[in-house]
Amino acid sequence: TTAFVNGDFLPLESAAISPMDRGFLFGDGIYEVIPCREGRMMAFTRHMSRLQDGLDAINIDNPMTTDDWHTCLEKLRRSAAADDCAIYLQVTRGPASTRNHKYPATSEPTVFAYSYSIPAASDGAPSTATGLRVITGRDRRWQRCNIKSVSLLGNVLHLMEGVEAGVEEILLFNDRDELTEAAACNVFITDGDRVITPPLDHQKLPGITRSVLIDLMRRDGGWNIEEAIITRQQVRRADEVWLTSATKDIAPVIEVDNRSVGDGTPGPLWSKAQTLLYRHRF
Ligand code: PDD
Repeated sequence: TTAFVNGDFLPLESAAISPMDRGFLFGDGIYEVIPCREGRMMAFTRHMSRLQDGLDAINIDNPMTTDDWHTCLEKLRRSAAADDCAIYLQVTRGPASTRNHKYPATSEPTVFAYSYSIPAASDGAPSTATGLRVITGRDRRWQRCNIKSVSLLGNVLHLMEGVEAGVEEILLFNDRDELTEAAACNVFITDGDRVITPPLDHQKLPGITRSVLIDLMRRDGGWNIEEAIITRQQVRRADEVWLTSATKDIAPVIEVDNRSVGDGTPGPLWSKAQTLLYRHRF
């Protein structure tokens, strides 16, 4: 596997950064995961714009132009063995001279990127779907989850709550029992023909899969798509529950807290939505 570190391409095994890197010491950095499907990077512009928002939010200068990023990531994509892969990239504040919470006014950001293979995309046919099982829990992460920070301990611990319960993910609810997101995905539910996802705020990552899907549904017409608060009760009564992420596309949830969602198989709206995403990616 080829890695990119601060301007150089080299084998991942020989890539190295300083232990004084603020990304390592403080989780002081921003990351992106860009899906590549059938040998094409998906929604590159949206990913670049979210990266810029994250860097702006924590006051790191973007060390590369969009063109540089594109050239670099395309090279990593071409070096990947699989047509379906994810490109991971992170920009940290770089190495510190001594450990101090306070960061200097200027620093040399550290850039790291590499690609790894992910499962092939489903075309939306029910036979190609893997239904996921999830539990629910209280969202105990920080109040700035809209920033795609490399500090993911809160998400890691939440995901492990699911793993320890024998399931794949966890749906998180805030103190008012409103759905925020999952440990590493955004969430959609359906109720009859309504497709609902929570509105964006500081409690959720503005997922690119989420935004692409909403735009496709609005453009396609015939969808009843809303961004609205979702209560725990609505999740319990939902006909369908979906998780979205760069690496999962739209994944149907077939069980929440040991109870079947609908009839316990991926639903018809999931199938239609995944087909829409599959056919009209941009
Ligand atoms: N995770 N919410 C959280 C907390 C996430 O970590 C992710 C993505 C999403 C979905 O965002 P997108 O559609 O842009 O991938 C929502 C990535 C894939 C990860 O950390 O590996």
